[in-house]
Amino acid sequence: MQAKRINRRLLAYMNYNRGSAQLVAPCMKLLSEIKARFEPALKSFADSEAQVSSLLAMIKPTQDDGFGDYQVNCAMALGKQLGKAPRDIAAELLQTVPLDDICEKAELAGPGFINLTFKDSWVIEQLLQAKSDDNLGVEQVDSPRTVVIDLSSPNVAKPMHVGHIRSTVIGDALANIHRFIGHKVITDNHLGDWGTQFGMIIYGYKHFVDQAAYQKNPVLELSRLYKYVRVLMDYHAAVQKLPEAQELKQKQLEALERIQSADHGDNKGKLKQQKKDIQRLKEKLTVQDELIASYTSALEDCDPQVAEVAKQHAQVGQQVLAETARLHEGDTENRALWDEFLPYCLEDIQRIYDRLNIKFDHILGESYYQDQLQGVVAELTANGLATESDGAMCVFMDGFEAPMIIRKKDGAFLYPTTDLATIKHRVHEWQADSMLYVVDHRQHDHFDKLFAAAKLWGYNDVEMTHVSFGTVMGDDGKPFKTRAGDTVGLEGLLDEAESRALAVAREQNPNLEDSRQQEIGRVVGLGALKYADLSQNRTSDYKFSYDKMLALRGNTATYLQYANARVHGILRKLDTDTEKLKAAADELVFTESVERQLAMQLLRFDEVIYDVLIEYKPNLLCNYLFDLAQLFARFFDQCSVRDSKTTAIQRSRLQLCGMTSRTLTCGLGLLGIESLERI
Ligand code: ARG
Repeated sequence: MQAKRINRRLLAYMNYNRGSAQLVAPCMKLLSEIKARFEPALKSFADSEAQVSSLLAMIKPTQDDGFGDYQVNCAMALGKQLGKAPRDIAAELLQTVPLDDICEKAELAGPGFINLTFKDSWVIEQLLQAKSDDNLGVEQVDSPRTVVIDLSSPNVAKPMHVGHIRSTVIGDALANIHRFIGHKVITDNHLGDWGTQFGMIIYGYKHFVDQAAYQKNPVLELSRLYKYVRVLMDYHAAVQKLPEAQELKQKQLEALERIQSADHGDNKGKLKQQKKDIQRLKEKLTVQDELIASYTSALEDCDPQVAEVAKQHAQVGQQVLAETARLHEGDTENRALWDEFLPYCLEDIQRIYDRLNIKFDHILGESYYQDQLQGVVAELTANGLATESDGAMCVFMDGFEAPMIIRKKDGAFLYPTTDLATIKHRVHEWQADSMLYVVDHRQHDHFDKLFAAAKLWGYNDVEMTHVSFGTVMGDDGKPFKTRAGDTVGLEGLLDEAESRALAVAREQNPNLEDSRQQEIGRVVGLGALKYADLSQNRTSDYKFSYDKMLALRGNTATYLQYANARVHGILRKLDTDTEKLKAAADELVFTESVERQLAMQLLRFDEVIYDVLIEYKPNLLCNYLFDLAQLFARFFDQCSVRDSKTTAIQRSRLQLCGMTSRTLTCGLGLLGIESLERI
């Protein structure tokens, strides 16, 4: 026992030194046991702790049951390094590492693989332990850390759109998973509540407010004003930029013609380059065409009356900036308007968070830091990090072409200045050990510079990670827009997902009472939307499709929720439920291989939870749950629960059902998705 604890601590220490993997706890049920067993032997071969750690990482679950449960692949790497035959090293390992008590088979295979098959009795013992545990056997971290998660963070004063879903649901899932294994999590919604969008609604309010509408529904009227001013600004931007854009297109066309007509004979290198250049220019032309089309539509599709208003407000762009600047300088009128508008804006987004069932520990928007920005610039100037350039205060850093500007020539502070103040706050007030920024990949440069500057400023001990994500695309493979070309509002998306799920629920269960159908529609619709996002590789773009996300088959929340409800149905028929099963003192028996496979999959829940946090990838948990549900379907197909041969077999199978359901409910819950006992 003592030896095991020391090994775990050592593993924790090694994990601590592996960059972002430092949040990973050492204790994974099956895998950690094998690693703990192999570690002393590997140490005698390796010459550094880092090497031991990389050798341990070569112990993995097998891809194929035929090779046993886990495979140890260290011998090949060691063989190369020590100039010995890998098979000899593997044989030596097999001789020294004590495995008899947990393994049925430990075999040398191929060039030097070690294939391990656990004893059924050991697997059963592990699963029974996991069964009586509230956390399903997922171990708590040895040294909890304070993890601040920056998530959602929309710019308020404009309606939330499809782009906001990713940060919100990925951030929420990561928060739940960190909490689940014992870390202290602080979620913070860093609202954009101080930017130009307020200048826009202030300008809109001063010129175009419909007082009656504002009194009746302020949120709706403010959002109308935002959109109206946006149209006016876009109109003028188009007037100004269309000729330039057309001119550039002309130049690109001429360049294309020049390149196409060049004759390189049979010079392969030049022909290849020519092809590349043509391709690149054609891509540029497509982008340019889109830009021209958007300017043209801003002008031509503009309602003539609105166009007339736009002409009367020729300076709208500058005026909006001036209103924003006045707000920031403390102008009483604008500040009073901001104070009046902000609660309405918050109410608007809160409605969506309530529907999504997302809660934050803090909502400290950009405005919260405004009176600290002066101090940030002063501090960075005093310690020589910020210097003046062209009237602006800049932080120049090695490895970056452009500096990070923290105060403009006109005295205005910027987005990075606020983020620096935010880091200071999170470290000093919350004692953050790690900060995760769940933000769109387009802000990559911003975060690179921000983290580098924060480190120079002295924030070396806190880990800072940009958990970036790709774009939500429409069917056409372009960023998801409405038919009219607007961004897709989040609220409409929720409505549509719920109403489609309701239609499915009605079809599946025509006799259910209406309120139940509505509830199913809500849970299934929302679950589908969240899961469609979470099940994608976080860093890639993904195509949005209602049909796919609500499919009853395939890797969807709908499939998992229906599968889970089916398990509950089985338990009900046999007069039991997950709680009763958890408390019951049953034994497990494996009569078919699929029962053992299901048990092994259930025990890997622990592993996958920790895997998710290595690269912050909730999709790994989705894949795991999907595999589990599929395996369960196979088990249920092959092993009758009701007509089991003996009571002991039936009890064992019921326990597998109970654990499957609890794991599905827990896993979905960590993803922020509800389960239903009946669908
Ligand atoms: N409000 C920003 C936007 O919508 C995102 C803020 C992300 N968080 C941060 N600390 N910068 O682009």
